Amino acid sequence: MEREKGTAQPVLILAIETSCDETSVAVVKDGNEVLSNLISSQIETHRAFGGVVPEVASRKHVEVITLVIEEALSVAGVEPEELTAIAVTQGPGLVGALLVGVVAAKSLALAWGKPLIGTHHIAGHIYANRLVTELKYPCMTLVVSGGHTELVQMEREGEFRIIGRTRDDAVGEAYDKVARALGFPYPGGPHVDRLAREAEEAVPLPRVWLEPDSYDFSFSGLKSAVLNVVNQSRMKGLTPDVAGIARGFQESVVEVLVEKAIRAVKSSAAKQLLLCGGVAANGGLRTLLTARCEAEGIELIIPPPVYCTDNAAMIGAAAYVKWIHDGGTPLDMVADPGFSLEKWSV
Ligand code: KG4
Ligand code: ZN
Repeated sequence: MEREKGTAQPVLILAIETSCDETSVAVVKDGNEVLSNLISSQIETHRAFGGVVPEVASRKHVEVITLVIEEALSVAGVEPEELTAIAVTQGPGLVGALLVGVVAAKSLALAWGKPLIGTHHIAGHIYANRLVTELKYPCMTLVVSGGHTELVQMEREGEFRIIGRTRDDAVGEAYDKVARALGFPYPGGPHVDRLAREAEEAVPLPRVWLEPDSYDFSFSGLKSAVLNVVNQSRMKGLTPDVAGIARGFQESVVEVLVEKAIRAVKSSAAKQLLLCGGVAANGGLRTLLTARCEAEGIELIIPPPVYCTDNAAMIGAAAYVKWIHDGGTPLDMVADPGFSLEKWSV
């Protein structure tokens, strides 16, 4: 069912995101105007454990979700009856965490008599770019988050084809593990990013390209190489060159991500390259990707940091695309930790 675009009534979507450690609720108008975007982060709670503890995450979502929903509506100045639909992250993510958002969204949909839009988390990260500018199809997206590293080709609006993915760790996960080995708390990405900037020179580390024509990634070998350097220094009674290691790791990761993304754009008809996910906040990645895209004449779009890490505004943006093409999702839908991006295509 293709809905008519540009009708007089604005499409107002209340979006809920609880797939990991942020409870976020937003109100988004017509898929690109953010009226409110509230984010309640659990990072301080999880830091003591060195990573996200799934059961603690679910409990924290339950504690705050109602308040965050009320606040998001109040900041937006929108009454429930004005809403077009309720969107929620259906997956992928931690099942117990997803469940809290899904149950809240279903309850509101029933109580207020509104349609429900089950939304894909990675489609959300990708469509965070629609909050910045109009997208032109076909386009290519480099998804770099704590749980995902993918190159996604989109021939048209709402259609996703994954042409490359990580074979082991996600890039954010590798950042977090390396940061931990260097003695920094969760989430470690920003620490490694800062250290890399401060370092005078990089400790040499390998680049993992895989087969020459592959768009896949692998980061676990690089992570082991970092651990080896750290352990060898300690065995010799030396203090590891933490900043140099961070810079070497970052240079290796960023070079491979950037070169594969550029090659994917050049070997397709993509009109734009989009960057998204928490690691899109990385200074080294933004700098090199911007420079390479300028040199190659590729239009690059990067969301501001608040829309790179998990947030509900991006879910509202993706849900809008689903809504105008396919309409709502049946109320008996379930939270799906392994939700497929390609199958979610409109
Ligand atoms: O997208 P996101 O908020 O959550 C997932 O859906 O996974 O990404 C979180 C990840 C964490 O691994 C965090 O360390 C990483 O993004 N991250 C960074 C930076 N800021 C956040 N990694 C590298 N450099 C950064 N500046
Ligand atoms: Zn995410």
